[in-house]
Amino acid sequence: MSSRYDELATQAQAALETAADPQQLEEARVAWLGRRGRVTLELRAIPGLPPDERPEAGRVLNTIKNELHDLWERRRSELTARAPEEGVGVDLTHPGRTPFSGRLHPITRVRRRIEEVFRELGFDVAEGPEVETEYYNFEALNIPEHHPARGMWDTFFTRDPPGLVLRTHTSPVQIRTMEGQPAPVRIIVPGRVYRSDTPDATHSPDFHQIEGLYVDEGVGMTDLRGVLDAFVHRLFGPDVPTRFRPSYFPFTEPSAELDMGCMSCGGSGCRICKGTGWIEILGAGMVNPVLYGFVGYDPERLSGYAFGMGIERIVMRLHGIEDIRLFYENDLRFLEQC
Ligand code: DAH
Repeated sequence: MSSRYDELATQAQAALETAADPQQLEEARVAWLGRRGRVTLELRAIPGLPPDERPEAGRVLNTIKNELHDLWERRRSELTARAPEEGVGVDLTHPGRTPFSGRLHPITRVRRRIEEVFRELGFDVAEGPEVETEYYNFEALNIPEHHPARGMWDTFFTRDPPGLVLRTHTSPVQIRTMEGQPAPVRIIVPGRVYRSDTPDATHSPDFHQIEGLYVDEGVGMTDLRGVLDAFVHRLFGPDVPTRFRPSYFPFTEPSAELDMGCMSCGGSGCRICKGTGWIEILGAGMVNPVLYGFVGYDPERLSGYAFGMGIERIVMRLHGIEDIRLFYENDLRFLEQC
């Protein structure tokens, strides 16, 4: 009798061991351990055995049944653990996980966009040092020592070595570029600048500017106006109005500031534009001929224009951001929205 049960056990084990996937395993389980499975049927047949054989038969068959059950459980976890790599048991309808992808900082993106617009208009990109001499940051830009105009820029000075400044604007690159090459010069200068300002919603001790300079024969104020209009229309849309307002900068004469129509209220006046309908976006003007004296250009033959703008301010206008500090806090909730 027990050899018949041994035979049964061996066959059932083989069926469970050789099942190649969860479905075959399930078929083997039903065939041997299911309600009409062969082991189950043998157990049910025990009451029909001679009374003295029943206890032994029950003991042996129950052991076999429990061992087969354990084997089935082991095989089941083996086959389902292996399933994904074999494409079995994978739920193809399960929604995928979106991989996290990084992106460029809004300042970088808008800087590149502005560079692209001016490249299309014929400008090259130039750069210069962030630690500057007072000569390039002030003097050669017609801002002499002790002149009150220096108060327009709250300046960081170096202590060791003394006598240098963190550039307060990108304008010194105007001088460096003209020094290094003859006219015509047509450049934009993106870069980081520094001011010893206390941070608040509209001030930061370091921020970014883009400077522009075009010097050639016969360059006039209308050229400046045309290029700045083209720039505003490409960046903000073709219908945005612009206007020039007279202003003062030591390195331009005459000087102006460019306003564009407030995008928040469409010009009717709101909190963002302080009720005026206009937003200031940059300073500009005709290059003051005094600068040509510093770089050896002939002021009789050449004329030019220059402009300078804060990149943060442009991004704030584009995206309706009201606090400049958000750009430097690296809060993903902010960065992901821009
Ligand atoms: N450098 C000026 C500033 O930081 C901005 C500026 C105004 C630049 C007029 C220019 C210009 O080139 O022509 O406040």
